[in-house]
Amino acid sequence: MTNSAPIGLFDSGIGGTSIWKEIHTLLPNENTIYLADSKNAPYGQKSKEEIISLSKKNTEFLLNQNAKLIVVACNTATTNAIKELRASYDVPFIGIEPAIKPAANNSETHTIGILATKGTLSSELFNQNVLNYPNTKIVEQVGYGLVQLIEEGKMISNEMTVLLKKYLEPMVDANIDYLVLGCSHYPYLIPQIKKILPKHIRIIDSGEAVARQTKNILSEKNLLSEEKNCNQIFYTNFNPTVLKSILKNKYPVIEKDF
Ligand code: SIN
Repeated sequence: MTNSAPIGLFDSGIGGTSIWKEIHTLLPNENTIYLADSKNAPYGQKSKEEIISLSKKNTEFLLNQNAKLIVVACNTATTNAIKELRASYDVPFIGIEPAIKPAANNSETHTIGILATKGTLSSELFNQNVLNYPNTKIVEQVGYGLVQLIEEGKMISNEMTVLLKKYLEPMVDANIDYLVLGCSHYPYLIPQIKKILPKHIRIIDSGEAVARQTKNILSEKNLLSEEKNCNQIFYTNFNPTVLKSILKNKYPVIEKDF
């Protein structure tokens, strides 16, 4: 494996680009390949078996492109499939889990909200993690419909506002002071979420922590790259319009059926 080999990332769609942005900012000398499995989005309502099978297919695509490390830039795929991925492939995997720890440790009301997919909130990994915070009340909410609207490019729309109000207002009533975004698509909703939540409620996502962890693992394995002219390549198996627009048309987006 060479240091200039790319970091591979995959997500059920375009949401994991929120993680890619953090990685690219922290590690600008890395080549990256991002795979958006938008054809199969959302993963959040699929069975564990389906999520594992799609995650393996995505991993194999990235390994065929010589990825030196794979970031599972999807909470649902991490919480349901990372164990099987680590057992099946000889490459380091970085996963993304809801950032409960910083929220629970800093909450003054001892009440935090988590917005995530059904697949994440019902996973064994998530439910085991929650047990580490017996003194914190965790208000869970499935974000039904949010990923679909984001994939359709409707981040700012009446439909989105209606859904967000329905999901967030009961959390405000429950006195949360932290909202954890447990899906890599949701950081694209932060501007709309801020309009709904009172100012004292902090919003936390996992992007920066995942980028730091990626750097640490590459450094531990002597795999950091110092290349100057790096390539950032994006693949999608469905309509590339929204992906191109969130990347501001700055990077190549290749449409490919996989
Ligand atoms: C989904 O595909 O349902 C959302 C992906 C995620 O959990 O990050």
